[in-house]
Amino acid sequence: MPEFETLVIHAGQPPDPTTGAIMTPIYQTSTYRQEGVGRHRGYEYSRTGNPTRTALERCLAALEDGTNGLAFASGMAAIDAIAHLLQPGDHVLAVDDLYGGTYRLFESVYAKLGISFSYASPANPAEFVSQARAETRLIWLETPTNPLLRLCDIAEIARLAKRSRPGVLVAVDNTFATPYLQRPLQLGADLVHHSTTKYLSGHSDVVGGAVICRDEQTAGRLRVLQNSIGAVPGPFDCFLVLRGIKTLGVRMDRHCSSAQLVAEHLKRMKGVAAVYYPGLAEPPQAELASRQMRKPGGMVSFVLRAGAAAAVRFVEATQLFSLAESLGSVESLIEVPAAMTHASTAGTPLAIDPALIRLSVGLEAVGDLIADLDHALDSSS
Ligand SMILES: Cc1ncc(COP(=O)(O)O)c(C=O)c1O
Repeated sequence: MPEFETLVIHAGQPPDPTTGAIMTPIYQTSTYRQEGVGRHRGYEYSRTGNPTRTALERCLAALEDGTNGLAFASGMAAIDAIAHLLQPGDHVLAVDDLYGGTYRLFESVYAKLGISFSYASPANPAEFVSQARAETRLIWLETPTNPLLRLCDIAEIARLAKRSRPGVLVAVDNTFATPYLQRPLQLGADLVHHSTTKYLSGHSDVVGGAVICRDEQTAGRLRVLQNSIGAVPGPFDCFLVLRGIKTLGVRMDRHCSSAQLVAEHLKRMKGVAAVYYPGLAEPPQAELASRQMRKPGGMVSFVLRAGAAAAVRFVEATQLFSLAESLGSVESLIEVPAAMTHASTAGTPLAIDPALIRLSVGLEAVGDLIADLDHALDSSS
């Protein structure tokens, strides 16, 4: 099996057999001429399948070490497909710190369809798994979590879940880590989810999602859902994600090294009350970070001592860090999760501290990024 750095460039993307084109062509077609009724070359209609999408799906399957990859029009569409595996009466056990949009989909769409959800801290895997019930069909993990950047022990949770609840599916949202830093299927998970909008595409120019499966049976069910619901990405979007993936490893190395320096700098700043970053974690999270992840990632969260109003002033004062939702791109982004990405958790037990600021550390010179944060602290206090 080739190594990761080779897979990102070649997996699923052989030179085009008809022309030798090195880059996967954008098959901008909705349909395909058939030789006779039911006689075709593997493609009938582009909602069902498109060669550019196939290249992306095969590449993602190889990177996550899965049997199948399925690409979707957004990360939320990918989570929606996973949730469609459930039936009324089923229960989902999820981590208690997760993307606000996932929480909204669970609570405002699926809870109304007869599926119940509960949320628990993953800090102690045995306590977390003990919250599963006879009706639990899906365990939903995010690691690092969004926005508090806590880690779930995927291997231990999957092991305990499978022992006590055979047949339960363990899904991991691997958007923050990417397969370069962490491979959940190798640790025992059944499904990996990605918002490909983020690090995989890496350039803030596309919205997309993906699910990668460990077994053929679940992949087959998801393939039917993907075609039936139809939330598929267009060929140009697939091309953009594929192009971004080619540099994933080198980008992640830089995101991680800069995030580590930014986190260490924030930790020294007097106006900062707390910094959340797996690279600064204390045992047992530190030990888990080194066991489960190649490096601690490019996301950093922190809380200002001066409180929520100062946090708003801070994010409005940065110049290099753009005030924007999303993450994982070449440019640095900053946001206040309580008011932005996680507004849907307001007033719930999952609500986020309004003084918390989340950074997506980009690829600019790290000295410039640190100077930008220093300047923002001066002007906000
Ligand atoms: C961890 C995580 N999962 C899922 C999503 C949803 O992805 P998308 O915005 O591509 O629909 C996001 C979006 O921010 C996210 O951060």
